[in-house]
Amino acid sequence: MTLSMPGTGARTAAPGTAVPFTPSAPLTRATPNSSGRVAFPDGFRWGTATAAYQVEGAGAEDGRQDSIWDVFCRVPGAVHQGDDGMVACDHYHRYREDVALMKSLHLDTYRFSTSWARVMPDGRTVNPRGVDFYSRLVDELLAADVMPWLTLYHWDLPQALEELGGWPARDTASRFADYAAVMADALGDRVPVWTTLNEPWCSAFLGYTSGAHAPGKKSPELGLAAAHHLMLGHGLAMEALRDRVPEASLGITLNFTVSDPVDPTNPADVDAARRDDGMFNRIFLDPILRGAYPQDLLVDVAHLGLAEHIRPGDLEIISAPIDVLGVNYYNGGAVSATPEPQDGTPLGTAGPDGARERDAGEPVWETRSPNPVPEGIYPHSRDLPTTDMGWEVQPEGLTRLLLRIQEDYSGPRGTALFVTENGAAYPDVVEQDGTVDDQDRLAFVDAHLRALKDAIDAGADVRGYFAWSLMDNFEWALGYSKRFGLTRVDYETQERTVKSSGRWYADVARDNAVPARG
Ligand code: FCB
Repeated sequence: MTLSMPGTGARTAAPGTAVPFTPSAPLTRATPNSSGRVAFPDGFRWGTATAAYQVEGAGAEDGRQDSIWDVFCRVPGAVHQGDDGMVACDHYHRYREDVALMKSLHLDTYRFSTSWARVMPDGRTVNPRGVDFYSRLVDELLAADVMPWLTLYHWDLPQALEELGGWPARDTASRFADYAAVMADALGDRVPVWTTLNEPWCSAFLGYTSGAHAPGKKSPELGLAAAHHLMLGHGLAMEALRDRVPEASLGITLNFTVSDPVDPTNPADVDAARRDDGMFNRIFLDPILRGAYPQDLLVDVAHLGLAEHIRPGDLEIISAPIDVLGVNYYNGGAVSATPEPQDGTPLGTAGPDGARERDAGEPVWETRSPNPVPEGIYPHSRDLPTTDMGWEVQPEGLTRLLLRIQEDYSGPRGTALFVTENGAAYPDVVEQDGTVDDQDRLAFVDAHLRALKDAIDAGADVRGYFAWSLMDNFEWALGYSKRFGLTRVDYETQERTVKSSGRWYADVARDNAVPARG
């Protein structure tokens, strides 16, 4: 169960060096991996990912208190049909069965998150019963020979800390480092990989700018303050982890878009793509891996107060070397400076924005763009298939994304890449015999694994893939209406049924290869 990766990333990129934005046209040609059997490098890790609030349930058990998501779920109209995570997949009680499921699927790694509100319900005081749950889970994984990959924060801030200002408040970063230290002291002897945050873009900009996610704030200034303090929290937690678990691999997971200008010959479209890329990707990549916020982004948001939050020394803390960078990829998008002919609205990002359709009669919860400066950035839909989320299916974007990160960010610093989330929601059909033959999801994962191998063949140091998700679960503002699982969950009975995609993925993991298309 050893990971072949360096203990620390070598720092070779000069801090503050600007990364030029170079739009590139989508790849359309077939590659050697487009069909046929595709073998992966020896030691490539195969896993699935989940998050505490999405699967655990046991919302008020063993001392757990509210996180911002518990409170947000009570806001009329905020979450589909008022769904919440009180029961979810009941993983808190069924973790043994779920670990056995992973083992039966030949998975060698499990990416899960720990709930800060379970471990430190008031954000500060340790709750030993909460820590115990994760200790039991880790032991169960190790006994099954499944490597635990722990994420400290997958969006569920203790509500007590939100009431003290949440992520826009600088102190939250220090509280997060204290929580990291508690977890490292408890589990550092058994967990070989630790990541600090999952998708800080969502925490900052869906949570504090768009209002689509908890805590539902709608302010460009708060989103940017949250973004910086999430970065600082990451850096301070890295210090706490490095001290306590020096042998472990440490890092962070970011979510990415691939911004393409609708017309690459039109400078205004190229500039819209540059700004979209800056506010989604480079705002986190640059401070972590290059030690500075991008200059063009600082100019774009100069009126929104970000610079006032950045204190001397912060960027040194934030840019401490990381061993692993988790890449979450669902889709990219085409953006333009002009609206789409019919109904273009300035969303300011081509990635998932959390906006959702409502059932008739559902209370309305207004949201705004997650981009603090969305003006003049219009997403345009392309002639691509879409998932049940409405997200475009764009596997070649993953190839370009991984190569770009490798070349501009992770490669120069010796940081290994892992695809820590990728997957698709589709409206599954349960057959009479209870099976789910989800060929659409299977084809989605197949295409993305082929695209991932294209990136490896072209030089990207990608060492593992985690399908989102092990099982259907609570999909945030969309509640239980969207199913991403390789395993179906019947929420009435909590019965798990492996879908066709799950059985196919188990063979991929067992063989370390994607089979030829049938
Ligand atoms: C990601 C989240 C994950 C899940 C997928 C569909 O942004 O990290 O929890 O909701 O999207």
